[in-house]
Amino acid sequence: PAAVIVAIDGPSGTGKSSTSKAVAARLGLRYLDTGAQYRAMTWWMLNNGIDVSDPSEIAAAADKPAIVSGTDPQAPGISADGADASVPIRSQEVTAAVSAVSAVPEVRTRITDLQRTIAAGTQEPGDAGTGIVVEGRDIGTTVLPDADLKVFLTASPEARAARRSGELKSADGKAHADLAATQQALAARDKADSSRKTSPLKKAGDAVEVDTTELTLEQVIECVVTLVEKAS
Ligand code: C5P
Repeated sequence: PAAVIVAIDGPSGTGKSSTSKAVAARLGLRYLDTGAQYRAMTWWMLNNGIDVSDPSEIAAAADKPAIVSGTDPQAPGISADGADASVPIRSQEVTAAVSAVSAVPEVRTRITDLQRTIAAGTQEPGDAGTGIVVEGRDIGTTVLPDADLKVFLTASPEARAARRSGELKSADGKAHADLAATQQALAARDKADSSRKTSPLKKAGDAVEVDTTELTLEQVIECVVTLVEKAS
């Protein structure tokens, strides 16, 4: 059978990453975190003196860093110009700048090309014939419009902020992040991602929408696994 291609899109805090990794691991598929690629590009720019408030500087630098993504759902890993970016791409500084960087068309073209190469399995020997779960914002609409299955995850703003602040807490071990501030930061990033000109965050016409507000992570995983099995 042909390698199954699964696109999982939606805003942050909907359980997209946890679901995508678990579905890939359960079904023996590869996994690609496209948000991590935009974050790695942003991290590299911040480290290399690019003024991320200037779209023309961002555009001119978009071709420079080598961005290499692992596709093992258990330990994906990502690097920029050979430097391990897995941890620093989750910093507040990168999170605050990534929407501006990812809105620049030259950045999107560059990273979309990488994503299509990885999905096709032509990057690494042995990848061909292995399906993949690709998570992001524009995978079903732009990157892989012929995906075998497209899922669009949603959740109420309150549920998303609660999940995000729980994650922030476990990531840095510090006091509980302020829920209202988290909700506000998420809303600002959603607005930027949904209103940009080039391939905004949007549900594809043929995507299956799953509202995760009232579901546990396990229930969302089961639901998506069933959808993949039906589609492949
Ligand atoms: O998913 P994550 O929160 O890590 O994504 C970080 C940012 O990367 C998003 O807020 C968005 O600006 C950008 N992104 C994108 N297209 C994708 C995935 C992420 O523009 N396919």
